[in-house]
Order: sequence, then C-alpha cells, then structure tokens
Amino acid sequence: MNITALLINFAYIISAGLFIFGLKMLSSPATARQGNLLSALGMLLAIVVTLFYSGLDYKWIVVGVFIGTVIGLVAAYKVQMTSMPEMVALFNGFGGIASLLLAWGEYHQHPELSVFIALVTFLSAFIGGITFSGSMVAFGKLAEKIPSKAIVFSGQHIVNGAILLTALASGVIFAMNPESSYAIFLVIVVVSLLFGVTSVIPIGGADMPVVISLLNSYSGLAACAAGFVISNNILIVAGALVGASGIILTKIMCKAMNRSLANVLFSGFGATTQAAGSGEQEGEIRPATAEDVYYILEAADSVAIVPGYGLAVAQAQHVTQELGELLEENGAEVSYAIHPVAGRMPGHMNVLLAEANVSYDQLVEMDDINPRMDTVDVCVVIGANDVVNPAALNDESSPIYGMPIIETHRAKTVIVLKRSMNPGFAGIQNALFFSPNTRMYFGDAKASIQALVAEFKSD
Ligand code: TAP
Repeated sequence: MNITALLINFAYIISAGLFIFGLKMLSSPATARQGNLLSALGMLLAIVVTLFYSGLDYKWIVVGVFIGTVIGLVAAYKVQMTSMPEMVALFNGFGGIASLLLAWGEYHQHPELSVFIALVTFLSAFIGGITFSGSMVAFGKLAEKIPSKAIVFSGQHIVNGAILLTALASGVIFAMNPESSYAIFLVIVVVSLLFGVTSVIPIGGADMPVVISLLNSYSGLAACAAGFVISNNILIVAGALVGASGIILTKIMCKAMNRSLANVLFSGFGATTQAAGSGEQEGEIRPATAEDVYYILEAADSVAIVPGYGLAVAQAQHVTQELGELLEENGAEVSYAIHPVAGRMPGHMNVLLAEANVSYDQLVEMDDINPRMDTVDVCVVIGANDVVNPAALNDESSPIYGMPIIETHRAKTVIVLKRSMNPGFAGIQNALFFSPNTRMYFGDAKASIQALVAEFKSD
C-alpha cells in the first residue's frame, strides 16, 4: 500500500468513528442534532479523501456533484415536511440504484472477476435493484399516486418465489463464469427490478413503516456489497452501518405493530382493509366548539397530547407547544404521548416536536403512558387516528387487530382534533370517535389549537 492509500484509509477510520458516534448520539433527542452533524462531518471527510485516489476522472465527478447538489438543494427547500417520508423513500431508492449502477459499471469495464467479486457484484446489483424499484412503489404509495392498500393477486407467492429462484440461479451461474455471462447479468438486473415491485406492492395499509425501514436497510446492504466490488473500506463500513441500523429499526417497527417480519412481507396485509374494517360505527358523535374544549382543558390536572399525521399536515407543532405551555401555566401536568408509527416515517412526531422545542422530558412512550392512562384527565388527540383506534385491541376482524395503540379511550375525557370523519392511513373507521367520553373538535388542527390558545390568553 502506498503512502496516499495509507493516509486515505486512516482518514476512513476517522470517518467510520464519526459515523458510529453520530449514530449513537441519534438515539437520544437531546443529542440527535449534534449526532447528525458529526455523521455528516464523517461523510464529508470520506468524500474529500476519496478524491485523492489516483486515476479519477474529475470531469464526471464535478458533473455528478453539480447535479446532486442542485437536486438536494431544491428538495431541501421545496419539499414540505409532510412529504419527508416520500423523500426518504426516494433517497433509499437512489442509494439502491447507485449500487446497481456501480456494480454494472465495474463489471462492464472488467468482466474477468474472481468468484468472490462476481458474488458481491451480483449482490450489489440484485439488492440495489430491489431497493430502487421497491422504494419507487413505496414512494407511490406514500404519495398516494398508487393505492396505499395492499395489492394482491392469486398465485402471488408462487410468482415471487419463481422470481427469487430465477435471480438466485442467475447469481450462481454469473458467479461461476462472469466473463461470458453478460446476458445473465442483465437478467439479474431486470429480475431484481421486477422483484422490488412484486414484493412491495402486496404490502399496504399500516405496514408501510416496516417496508420503509427494511428498504433503508437494503440500501445499506447494497452499498456494503458495492464497497466490496470496488474494494472501498468506508463504503463497506457505512453500508454495513446503514444495513444494521435499518434492520434494528425494522425490528422496532415490527414490535410497534406487533407483527413478525415474515407476516408483514407475506400476508398481504391491508388487502382486506376495505372489506373488514371500514363498516359503519354504532353510536353518536359529540362535536365540541373551541369554547367547550377550553373549559374541559382549563379544569384538567393532567393532559396527554397524542400527535399523529394530521399534526404534520397542519404544521401545528409550534402552536401545540404553545398550548402545552399555557396548560402548564394553568397548573396541568402536560405530556406528549408518542406512538412509534405515528405519522409517516419513523420518529416523525419526535422530529416535529423537537422542531417546536418541546422539552424532551415531556415526551412519553406508548408503553409508559398506557399503564397510567386511567389517571389522565384529558387526552388531546391531534390528527392521530390509526394509532389510537381501539379496534386494534378488541375487533378481531379489523386489519389492524393486534397492533399496540395509545389507549386514549381509557382516559377520563378524549378530545379529538381532525377535519372530518374521514379514516386515517389504514382506511378504517375509529370507534374512539363514537365513545361516550370523546368530544370531536373539528377543523384544521393548527386553526383549532390557535383558537384554544386565544381562549386561554383572553382568560
Ligand atoms: P392516520 O391514521 O393516518 O390519521 C391521520 C388523521 O389526521 C386523519 O384521520 C386525518 O383526518 C387527520 N388530519 C389530516 N390532516 C389534518 C389537519 N390539517 N388537521 C387536523 N387533522 C388532520 O395517522 P396516525 O394516527 O399518525 O397513524 C399513522 C398511520 O400511518 C398508521 O397506520 C401507520 O402504520 C401508517 N404509516 C406510518 C409510517 C411511519 S414509519 N410512521 C409510514 C407509513 C405509514 P381528517 O382527514 O378528517 O382531518
């Protein structure tokens, strides 16, 4: 190894350290911002030192950096916070296609590969292809450009099994004789893209959190394989870190939905959503005005705020924080109960509330608030629906049956802020809204909370 390569690898070790410490810091909201910055610094260092490798064609690197920077800047400024999950899905997909193209480019230039390099080339292309097309489907579902519910057809498992077998068999043939297997490589590319579509399309409804985190993990594994293809240590390490943390996140999401990964991937959840769960609910709804809600909150000693996707849509995080402060000034104990899959991406609610400077020690996890729910005077459900649907506990025919929820229905009073009686992501009606201790406070969450803040201030 010459001195330049030695120094580059030394810098890579520092980068890897920064990634690891950055990841560690991401595990607490108090240190997450610095963690993000530290990891970004690690990435900057890795990119800069990589430019010192000899034999690089800077012309194309400059073109790539320019295009990437323009897309990144436009996306950062233009994309609404509510569209972040779609952005994450797209970026996962871009990571996947980058690994596929890298493997393809390397193979195209040097088709005479060792068995090991042929194997990692296959993995990089195959996993990268699945990640790309699967992420595009996830993007389409999240952006509601294609139906978010599961799309199933008869014989789906057989078709998926056949596609997977074709891919694996092609991989073996390719690895044994890469030099004369260009056509086989193209088959691998096509089959991987097809498999991404056919494996994500039957997953729907509330299972998307698992898919997003799994695709995130795949993008890391593809990058890790790509790192072996071009013998780049930092790509191997960074890919492995993304792959491993994605798997951990997938596990957390599965736990949050009380489902096994195999069940999510193969059960076609949500296909029955419309049939099973969207039926009419019994009972009567009790609408409330801002003044009604003010009097209820004014008298409360303990208030649990339960945010959901509607908080993100309404961008109501700042005014929610203001309401929280007013409630505390009024003598109430205020907490924010966060469901792990509330919103549309892991940590969605935490990000929004952190942006509004809600104190971290006021955030309570589902498992901590549920045991003491009976003692909560008022639960204020802001744009949440599926994550507070009691059907998950007591209606075996419901497609979300078994998913743990924030059990707001057990609080003394529940105030639900939403615009209409429309269902949430899983497309099912919610018995909570018809419960005798629930008051529906209709309207855009931001405007509704602003009205409450005005009531408190005029007091
Ligand atoms: P949802 O069940 O999707 O309910 C959101 C509610 O917000 C809707 O009922 C909607 O009712 C209301 N809403 C929308 N805009 C609003 C506004 N401007 N003001 C007030 N209310 C508004 O949300 P959730 O309870 O957070 O559950 C999340 C769901 O998404 C779960 O099914 C979860 O599995 C799924 N999902 C999660 C993720 C991740 S990783 N978190 C990823 C993909 C999917 P109106 O239209 O009547 O206002």
